Amino acid sequence: MKLEILNNYSEMVAVAADIFAKQISEKPDSVLCLATGSTPVGVYQNLIKKVENKEISFKDVKTFNLDEYQGLDANHPESYRYFMNDNLFNHIDINIDNTKVPSGVGNLDEIAKEYDAAIDAAGGIDLLILGIGSNGHIAFNEPGTPFGSYTHTLKLDERTRMDNARFFDGNIDEVPTHAITMGIYSIIRAKKIILLANGKHKARAVKETVQGEITTDVPASILQVHPDVTIIMDHDAASFLGD
Ligand code: PGA
Repeated sequence: MKLEILNNYSEMVAVAADIFAKQISEKPDSVLCLATGSTPVGVYQNLIKKVENKEISFKDVKTFNLDEYQGLDANHPESYRYFMNDNLFNHIDINIDNTKVPSGVGNLDEIAKEYDAAIDAAGGIDLLILGIGSNGHIAFNEPGTPFGSYTHTLKLDERTRMDNARFFDGNIDEVPTHAITMGIYSIIRAKKIILLANGKHKARAVKETVQGEITTDVPASILQVHPDVTIIMDHDAASFLGD
């Protein structure tokens, strides 16, 4: 694992956006896997600027997203499809047909089965970005998820629903109880992975991910076995790391 400890969030997202830019410059038809949540927003803002400045183009890029809430359709402002359109896709030169977010409505078991096949058909993921939950989850792979899992449906942890209630006017009852997510195996098959973490509330999860036992109790700990992972964090998120 490569660790990048930076002074603040804006330095973190600049470094992450540069990794994306390099990937797209070297392989214009890259397959990217994108994340939602508050952490990656600044990365997307930097990428939009790079497109505006003509440093990069998403013309031939394909994207997959990690996850989606069950029951929220693309028009729901808290759906991850809406988030991606709003925070990135509507502002860059990507072909929207080349952007995939697992649908949260319909036959989710079928949708899950087809999702990994679609990733394979696209040639696999070149670069994948992750946030991390305060419980160590990656995407919606909550503690206990098998490392060999493919895209699947699941019941969300109460801690995750509490963490995400801030997006639903603080009302946990509005947060969906279930979701669809790429599995841990779907994620670690990506050629290159970057994980971003900022803030004290992520420090415990970061420590367990980097220096803890590899255990399904901390889904992100599996990243220790991946050959090309960079964790980009601020001093607060790194504050529990010891020698
Ligand atoms: P956050 O979520 O970026 O909103 O902190 C991260 C996650 O739960 O994976």
